[in-house]
Amino acid sequence: MTGKFITFEGIDGAGKSTHLVRFAERLAERGIEVVTTREPGGTPLGERLRELLLHESMSLATETLLMFAARNEHLERLIRPALREGRWVLCDRFTDATFAYQGGGRGLDPGRIATLEEWVHPDLQPDLTVVFDVPVSIACRRLAKAGTSPDRFEREPALFFTRVRAVYKERAARFPGRIRVVDASRKPSEIMKTLEDIILNIC
Ligand SMILES: Nc1ncnc2c1ncn2[C@@H]1O[C@H](COP(=O)(O)OP(=O)(O)OP(=O)(O)O)[C@@H](O)[C@H]1O
Ligand SMILES: [Mg+2]
Repeated sequence: MTGKFITFEGIDGAGKSTHLVRFAERLAERGIEVVTTREPGGTPLGERLRELLLHESMSLATETLLMFAARNEHLERLIRPALREGRWVLCDRFTDATFAYQGGGRGLDPGRIATLEEWVHPDLQPDLTVVFDVPVSIACRRLAKAGTSPDRFEREPALFFTRVRAVYKERAARFPGRIRVVDASRKPSEIMKTLEDIILNIC
C-alpha cells in the first residue's frame, strides 16, 4: 500500500499555502493520513538550505544544485518513507517549480534540470500536481497586501513571474494526466469547490 504524492505549484502569491492546509483538512476528514510539507525544506537540513536559497545571493547553478540537494534529503527522509507507509504527501512545490523558476524565470537550460531530476527521482513523479494559475498583477497585489518582507524570488520583477507562469502552463499542456490547472484568481471559496471536485476524483 503506497500513499499518493500530491504537489501544489504556482507563482508566489497564487494561494498554494493557503489552500494546501484546507486541502489536507478535507483529506483527513475522509480518514486519509496526510503529511504536509514544502520545498525547499521539509527536513531539518532542507529548512537550513531553504534559508540560504531564499536569502543568500548565489549563482544560478549553485541555486539549482542546492534545490536538488534539499529535494534529495526530502525524498529520502520524508517523502518516500511516508508514501511507503501508506500516507499521502501534500507538498508545497516540487520539481515543476525548478523548471518554472530556475528554468523559465532565470533561463537555465531545462536539459540540466532534467538531468538532476533523472538522478534524484528517476522513479517518482507526483500522482497529481495542482497548478494555481493567476495573473502576475493579482499575485503581486496579494503579496503586497500580506505585507511580509519579500525573499530573493519575490523581489524579482513582474516579467520574471510571467516567464515562470508560462512554464507552468507549458508543463500542464505536456503532462495533462498529472497536472491540473486551477483558476486561482477567484475567491478562496470558489477555488475550494474546484479542489473538492479534484479530491472526489482521486479518492
Ligand atoms: N483566492 C485568493 N483571493 C484573495 N487572496 C488570497 C487568495 N488566496 C490567497 N490569498 C492571500 O494571498 C496571500 C498569498 O497567499 P499564499 O501565501 O497562500 O500564496 P503562495 O502561493 O503560498 O505564495 P508563496 O509562493 O509566496 O509562498 C496571502 O495573504 C493569502 O491570504
Ligand atoms: Mg506559500
